[in-house]
Amino acid sequence: MTATAAAVPQDLATAKDAPGPKGWPLVGLAGEFRANPLALLTRSIQQHGDVVRLKLVRNAYIVNHPDGVRHVLHDHHLNYKKNFVYDRLKSVLGDGLLTSSGDLWKRQRKLAQPAFHRQRIKGFADLMSTHTARMLERWRSLAASRKTFDVHHEMMRLTFSIIGEALFSLNLEGGTAEVGQALHDALEISQRRFTAFFIPPKQLPTPDNRRFAAAMKVLDRVVEEIIQTRRAASDLGSDLLGMLMAARDEETGEAMDNRQLRDEVMTMVLAGHETTANALSWVFYLLSKNPGVARRVQQEAREVLGQRAPSMEDVPNLRYTQQVIEESMRLYPPVWIIGREAVEDDVIQGVRILKGSSILLVPFTTHRHKDFWEHPEGFDPDRFAPELSQKRHRYAYFPFAAGPRMCIGDGFAKMEMPIILAMVAQRYALHLEPGFVPELDPVVTLRPGNGIQVTAKELVA
Ligand code: HEM
Repeated sequence: MTATAAAVPQDLATAKDAPGPKGWPLVGLAGEFRANPLALLTRSIQQHGDVVRLKLVRNAYIVNHPDGVRHVLHDHHLNYKKNFVYDRLKSVLGDGLLTSSGDLWKRQRKLAQPAFHRQRIKGFADLMSTHTARMLERWRSLAASRKTFDVHHEMMRLTFSIIGEALFSLNLEGGTAEVGQALHDALEISQRRFTAFFIPPKQLPTPDNRRFAAAMKVLDRVVEEIIQTRRAASDLGSDLLGMLMAARDEETGEAMDNRQLRDEVMTMVLAGHETTANALSWVFYLLSKNPGVARRVQQEAREVLGQRAPSMEDVPNLRYTQQVIEESMRLYPPVWIIGREAVEDDVIQGVRILKGSSILLVPFTTHRHKDFWEHPEGFDPDRFAPELSQKRHRYAYFPFAAGPRMCIGDGFAKMEMPIILAMVAQRYALHLEPGFVPELDPVVTLRPGNGIQVTAKELVA
């Protein structure tokens, strides 16, 4: 049953207050949350259970049990809107799908959804494999010289170039590097703002504000030019932008205006490259620590593909490769936290939730819940064998979120990641730099803060 935001839960009167760690006056645990959120969240759950009150500057609750996750994201989603942190991304993403809400979001989601239909994104498999092949060619000299390199940096570069071409048919690294640089600057600064305590007003000429304003100027100009050129041509193109431009509101027949298109395009660049790059970086880290698993991935690539590049049709046959990616996103979910705000008082698992509080859903901790995962800290892709996944609680694993605001690009990512991983496995074995320990850096996404330093060894065909 779907609740309306106004429905008052009948068990509110008998609900318990949530337990939780004590904090400092006024700021609560905000300092610790900022310094090491994963440690604070993990410890709070271990000590206080599945619904924990966390005193930050604003009141917050961690909801860790899969039943609670279902309550917030699905059954009672109307009572849980996006919380204030998403507003901080609005300076770059405007009112795109990730940051908008209400009727605007509903309309935009309906307009954008067809562009992500399986049949539509199928056409992107070739460009994914072409960009990956180009990167693997570059790795030849690195492998020959046994030079250490950062595979996280390589993944960011690769997924950025893939999303650039899928969205606007542009090579963001080549002739249009100006756009690439501007996108990088704008996204990097907005990421830092996401977790900052204080953001200087935009009128102040701080170095960040100046760089941000310059980047946004370039982006506004270039995106506007691309849109105008397409509007003038008879063909809108078959990339994501073309599909978004062709979309029409079923009721009014209206298309998106330029401003809305810009916001959606920026959103997709942000949401669609760093997430995938981080997921793959953690995959390579885990494979280098688990050579037996890495050999199985190589073997599958040889059996399914031989020497040829993968197509969309190959992806279902790369079953073990997909399991490795799923297990890696269990331990290192790219979106490690999902924030919401309770519109009205509510009760989750017998615990009172106060209106206006932030709700923190944390894939990083739910994915390690000991009631749902055996040896939760261990890396074991076999637990994602279809027969085992089917038996699991549907909300024990939610790297792409769930419910109406589930990731729109999950199909895109689920095609892109196995293609990239299988192509790397066809050609190279990656070895972690001896003694290297990656740092968990939970910003908007869960990054390896110091990269993933590896050497590559070319495999004999
Ligand atoms: C491994 C890769 C990815 C992961 C783990 C991921 C995860 C997520 C999650 C958890 C959300 C929900 C956020 C929230 O509700 O607070 C989300 C939303 C979104 N994602 Fe992804 N994502 C990935 C790849 C992509 C790609 C490739 C694209 C686009 C090409 C994309 C576009 C979006 C958009 C537009 C939203 C907002 C959807 C809405 O609210 O209607 N994502 N993603």
